[in-house]
Amino acid sequence: MSDIAQNTLVLLKPDAVQRKLCGEIIQRFERKGLLLSALKLLQLTPEMAANHYAEHKGKPFYPALVEFITSSPVVAMVLTGCNAVKIVRTMMGPTNPVDALPGTIRGDYAKVMSYNIVHGSDSADSAAREIAIYFTEQEIVQYH
Ligand code: PPS
Repeated sequence: MSDIAQNTLVLLKPDAVQRKLCGEIIQRFERKGLLLSALKLLQLTPEMAANHYAEHKGKPFYPALVEFITSSPVVAMVLTGCNAVKIVRTMMGPTNPVDALPGTIRGDYAKVMSYNIVHGSDSADSAAREIAIYFTEQEIVQYH
């Protein structure tokens, strides 16, 4: 943990967009004190999905995951702040919503793993790799 600002990538998955939860979820991150440094709504191509989830290729859930994430638009954002990667993961709750406590995003809005509302980078290295899939350097605005 450190006082140095860190970037992380967050995706609001198709279920969050379809259920009109984007505003509420973004507000949670803003209220926590994380800065929005980039934000866009987009339709993922199969190629972008394969790039994003490359480490999971071959796992049993991979086809369903790619089909779901490309099924309708997502909202991608870069959030910035001290310990942003870990803070976002804590706010999201565990991957399986069954294990996610009330008060976490998945605990409050999701019931099953295949529709778990939100993605957050799991490390600073993953964040750098994932951010480059969605945003150019010019699209990321650093401010205080
Ligand atoms: S692993 O094998 O432990 O690394 O996988 P895990 O971290 O649990 O999950 C990796 C991503 O796959 C998603 N996932 C699924 N999507 C759809 N259906 C099923 N059954 C499923 N199981 C796992 C999970 O939400 C993770 O995606 P992100 O976007 O990182 O949350």
